[in-house]
Amino acid sequence: MTTQETQAVTPLQMQVSPGNPCPFLRALVAGGWLNDDVERLTRVRDTLLRASGQSAKGGKILAIAAIANGLSPAALLRNVREGLHLSMLRDGPLDKHGSGSRILDAHGQFQAEQLQRLATFATAKRTPQGSSELGLSLPEVTTMMDANFARARGTRRRIDRALMDGEWPVLLEVIGKDDADGARYLSVEDVWTLFQDRRLPQRLAERLA
Ligand code: HEM
Repeated sequence: MTTQETQAVTPLQMQVSPGNPCPFLRALVAGGWLNDDVERLTRVRDTLLRASGQSAKGGKILAIAAIANGLSPAALLRNVREGLHLSMLRDGPLDKHGSGSRILDAHGQFQAEQLQRLATFATAKRTPQGSSELGLSLPEVTTMMDANFARARGTRRRIDRALMDGEWPVLLEVIGKDDADGARYLSVEDVWTLFQDRRLPQRLAERLA
């Protein structure tokens, strides 16, 4: 998958708030599939289900979207009534404050050296077409998440490691590819495109079109 192919399908690039730290939600906003400000929970659910090819769990998505802006009764009620405030996810319950990959900094800026660090956990994968590309298998994704958690010693919360299991392995499932032996891997190039360009791989953009 080249960036050019991806751009051909999702030419639209909407502004994305720095208050949205989720690379997947950022790409959905940039592509015009979700509103940058506030979006009804059912629309968030339906969009994520479409993007994932229905492999995600709708009830779980609704629950995450309901609590993502705050755990107080007032915050929960507001999300249920108004929707998910995508531009106000920073400092919410799901923000790990640096316990993650740090590829996006606290201002939503792309940090290339952090993506290069992620690439050190990847190995060459043989594609079904006979070429090779750098990618992360599930064990390699797990090693990377463990290293991120270890790096944040002193500032991390215990729940942060559990939260990671709902991020990278889900990304592997949703945008990952199968290698020549049918094993799933997360292409480093696709991760780069997602974080830096806020663009989804072509087949996801087609599912959402
Ligand atoms: C309603 C649904 C979702 C919400 C509210 C949400 C929210 C968040 C938030 C707040 C972060 C920032 C965490 C941090 O910086 O510590 C984040 C990161 C992330 N999310 Fe999401 N997310 C959702 C769905 C998804 C989905 C469906 C995927 C995958 C397909 C995904 C993949 C990721 C990844 C890979 C990260 C980056 C973690 C890192 O940099 O280490 N998210 N998400």
